[in-house]
Amino acid sequence: MFDRSIYVNRRKRLIEQVSGGLVLILGNNEAPANYPANTYKFRQDSSFLYLFGLNHPGFAGVLDADSGEEYLYGDDVEMDDIIWMGPQPSTRELAAGVGVAHAAPFLRLAGALREAAGAGRRIHFLPPYRSYNTLLLEDMLGVHHSLLKGYASLELIRALVALRSVKEPCEIEEIRRGCNIGYEMHVTAMKLAHPGEKEQYIAGLLEGIAASRGCMVSFPVILSQNGETLHNHDHSQTLAAGRMMLTDAGAETLMNYCSDFTRTVPVGGKFSGRQKDIYNIVLACNDKARELARPGVTYQWVHLEACKVLARGLKELGLMKGDVDEAVAAGAHALFMPHGLGHMMGIDVHDMEDLGQIHVGYDEETRPIAQFGTSSLRMGRRLQPGFVVTDEPGCYFIPALIDQWRAGKMHEAFLAYDKIDAFKDFGGIRVEDDLLITGDGAACLGDRRLPATVAEIEETMRKG
Ligand code: GLY
Repeated sequence: MFDRSIYVNRRKRLIEQVSGGLVLILGNNEAPANYPANTYKFRQDSSFLYLFGLNHPGFAGVLDADSGEEYLYGDDVEMDDIIWMGPQPSTRELAAGVGVAHAAPFLRLAGALREAAGAGRRIHFLPPYRSYNTLLLEDMLGVHHSLLKGYASLELIRALVALRSVKEPCEIEEIRRGCNIGYEMHVTAMKLAHPGEKEQYIAGLLEGIAASRGCMVSFPVILSQNGETLHNHDHSQTLAAGRMMLTDAGAETLMNYCSDFTRTVPVGGKFSGRQKDIYNIVLACNDKARELARPGVTYQWVHLEACKVLARGLKELGLMKGDVDEAVAAGAHALFMPHGLGHMMGIDVHDMEDLGQIHVGYDEETRPIAQFGTSSLRMGRRLQPGFVVTDEPGCYFIPALIDQWRAGKMHEAFLAYDKIDAFKDFGGIRVEDDLLITGDGAACLGDRRLPATVAEIEETMRKG
């Protein structure tokens, strides 16, 4: 945990932004995998972690935005729990450890909320994403579960997003730790990418590295020689010479701060000429985005500029044609990059996505663009110092999409379908780094940037 003062200060700043009433922050509970006593690895709610720092199931925090009083609700363990789990701190001790003055059994929470609601006070809560908390809220607040998201407090969401978006120095240090574990994971994957190796073996080792150095992977490992499937969790293949292996993976530290990197490497360690050509275009997009990202510019603009680098490179290879700016404005490049440049990252790999991506990545000034491809951009708004975003351009040859666009004569002025058809067996490439927006630019997070150039990757694989 961070120092107690960090959590005290965060809660104080949060309720300064809330006009009154009670702020309810539910922690998570254990989630059974196949029977109640056999649970998935516990993952605390990120907003609860941010405000209360307690990585234990079965707690809720309440902040009184009028009086400033703070409460932690949770049950003390009983002897039976101690026998199985060992001695545990009491709710009162946990509360005191993070500067919360009041502690009470969980059962009292519903009564406190009803009393406040009965007195006409607003109960601010966040949109639930786990069924346990959805049912709990339905029960405590008397709002049907299908309506709960609509009743979530926009005021609270906005206040939390404003706070959590700008990372504190202690958070940046923790994300840096996550990135260093990510570095180890990716370099290990590169060194193992030999013909005949099983994807599953490498994916499993990456999970093991994350678990042994931190808490776990920050999302299920994406690793496949079919990199044209953007989020490919199928690891059933054996790596073959001539293919590339795309690995998109990151770690969560013990304090649940994340990293998220993607590298694409040639199986066997040597890029072919064609692979090198496309790889260098994607790397140029990634580099361009990092050069352009700085406080004051929107990430939507950075995304579109990176897409122009992609279109220009593909035009030079003869796969696109026509005016590059017009091609990107029309969305023709999205045949090759049907996703956004990146997302916010922090305690969640897609930071705060449970609060509603629209509130995290957009604001009144910067609105999402509905066009295919750019519509998937999760982070579009103006950058500020302290933001952490991913920079993850890609270029994919998705046979079904190519066939569909070609049959529909989509963007024929910009797409050289005859040439593109020859790449249908190519796969896909993505190059992803994690960027900290600094006072005047952007910097890769982690002690070292992952091997990124063709020469760096081939050298790393050669040493494997
Ligand atoms: N890197 C995985 C994701 O962004 O969803």
